[in-house]
Formats: sequence, C-alpha cells, structure tokens
Amino acid sequence: CEDRAMEENEQPTGGPYFVGKKDELIEAKRSFRTLEDRDILIIHHQGVFYALDSYCYHAGGLLQNGDIEELNGRLCIICPKHKYKITLAEGESLYKANDPRDPQPVPRWYSKGMKQRTHTVTEINGEVFVKLSKSQGWLESDFFQGEKGKLERAKA
Ligand code: FES
Repeated sequence: CEDRAMEENEQPTGGPYFVGKKDELIEAKRSFRTLEDRDILIIHHQGVFYALDSYCYHAGGLLQNGDIEELNGRLCIICPKHKYKITLAEGESLYKANDPRDPQPVPRWYSKGMKQRTHTVTEINGEVFVKLSKSQGWLESDFFQGEKGKLERAKA
C-alpha cells in the first residue's frame, strides 16, 4: 500500500501549466511548448484554443505547419508529411474511402479512432494553461515523445 502511494506520488501531475498570455498565443496562432518532457502544439483557430502532441502519430511528422481544414464537419490538421488528417479537438484520425459493398460506392469519411493525444486548454484572466492528458492508456502519438521518441523521429 505504501509502495503504491509512493508510485502515485511519482506520477507527473499533468498540470495545468501556464503556457502563455492569451493575446500572445492568439497572435502566434501556433505555439510549441515542452511540458514534462512532452512536446505540445498549442493552436488558436477560429476563436478556440487546442493543444495536441506535436509529432504526428503516423511517423512523427511535425504538425506545426500543417493546414487546418474542416472535413466532414470537423476541424482537422493535415500532417504535412503524408497528409493524414487528425481532428483538432479529439485527436481522431479520419480517412475517406469507398465501401466496396455499396452498390454504387461513394467516398465517405471513416475514423481510425483516437491516435493523437490531445490536451485540455483553459484560460483564466488572460492567461492560458494546458493540462496534459493521461487518459486512454497508450496512444500512438506517445511513441514519438520523450528521449526515445526523439530517436524514433530521427529514424522515420
Ligand atoms: Fe504524419 Fe505520416 S507522419 S502523415
């Protein structure tokens, strides 16, 4: 029991961490921060803040310069490396495909599920905070974070 308590104490807290003044982050549109050894991209788009892991879950591409588009009614960042589409709010990976079982196949949007870790952004009196997500067990974007992730990104 004591061991368990100690283990829990050693867990990183996840924040919330101060990441900048609201005005500055709005002006920057996209900001890079490292919190608890995790590289995070903070995006301000159409009046809303988003935070997600900086490196694409697919092969560690830099999401920072990805275009943002609305696809199937959801805002997505398009990874510049291989054009994977990731929803800004949930980190879900979307793709368009035909279902060959349809008598007249029409391309539709499908989801591969949550792949990119997203984090919670809050704003208090003009200051912006990010709380790191610890939920959902392992997500694929975790692979490219930290020291080991740096090596993986170099290989990809
Ligand atoms: Fe992002 Fe491949 S690294 S799509």
